[in-house]
Amino acid sequence: MPLVTCHFSNGAVYEVNADSGRPFLELALEQNVPIRNQCRSGTCLSCLCRGDTAGHALAPQAGRATSLMPMDRAEGKMLCCASEAVSDGALYFDYSSEEAGPTEVQAFVDSIEWIASDAVKLTVELAEGDWLDFRAGQYVEISVPGGGASRSYSMCSAPSELPKLEFMIRVLKSGLMSDYVRGAAKLDDVVRLRGPYGDFAWSGSRRHPHLFIAGGTGLSPICSILQEIRETSGHKPPLKLSLGCASPEALLDPSFLRRLETWMPTLEVNLCVESGAQNGHVNGNALASIDFDALAPDTQAYICGPEGLINAAIDRLLAAGLIPENIHYERFVASGIA
Ligand code: FES
Repeated sequence: MPLVTCHFSNGAVYEVNADSGRPFLELALEQNVPIRNQCRSGTCLSCLCRGDTAGHALAPQAGRATSLMPMDRAEGKMLCCASEAVSDGALYFDYSSEEAGPTEVQAFVDSIEWIASDAVKLTVELAEGDWLDFRAGQYVEISVPGGGASRSYSMCSAPSELPKLEFMIRVLKSGLMSDYVRGAAKLDDVVRLRGPYGDFAWSGSRRHPHLFIAGGTGLSPICSILQEIRETSGHKPPLKLSLGCASPEALLDPSFLRRLETWMPTLEVNLCVESGAQNGHVNGNALASIDFDALAPDTQAYICGPEGLINAAIDRLLAAGLIPENIHYERFVASGIA
């Protein structure tokens, strides 16, 4: 039976006796190894780890499709929930084993505001006595009142705004959360939040230029990160945001983005629409406004949106000379179940 050691950033080391044939995450959790996880289906990237230089301890389970990009696989990154142990070896996790796991809290609906033709901003306030720390860019699961199910949404507000949290939510023709925010929601409705999850967070770098690429409500975590950067003292790096939406009416809160641009002198916002471009809009998706040939190779890139946009953006960024470590991305949950 393979013996796999799990190394965390605080120096803690755990051993896992790992039967082949079962997802490594299941075995590790049974043996009390505190590996982050959420979807357990290869989608959310919470359970990401890096193999040792030999890189053979885990192998992807046959037939499991995952969100891991080829550039990550090439660097020896693996998803514990979609891999099985095949030999002795070491795995590395870039967080502390003592990091608090997700918590479940109660919050009250504070407001629901339409910010585009098909999107709202949901604001909730944590119940007294409840608290949920998060890093800008992370997401939580929100229980839909009356629906008995949860959906994942990234905060668009900064952590400094706690106990209030804001979320950009795309409103579909039908769907559990869409139906709720469109019709059934009332002030002071109780929602349960579980989280935070995700590694899509600001690197903290102030020296390198930053490029943010958002498709639709992929803007939500990027707004949170931009506001966190705004609140940090000292020098701000050059920041570019390119938001792509289907039409001018679908652009999310453009007046807020223009205000953000005023408040942050190093920020440039480009609004892209795939049809009906008006004054000041770029015609095309979120990549249309970016001069990839002019990107500095040390640019820190952050991408959030649908899978096709992320894949295309990563290809262009790698071709422009960015290294994989500087490309951060977060996928949507499939919109068909929103
Ligand atoms: S828990 Fe493994 S990818 Fe989500």
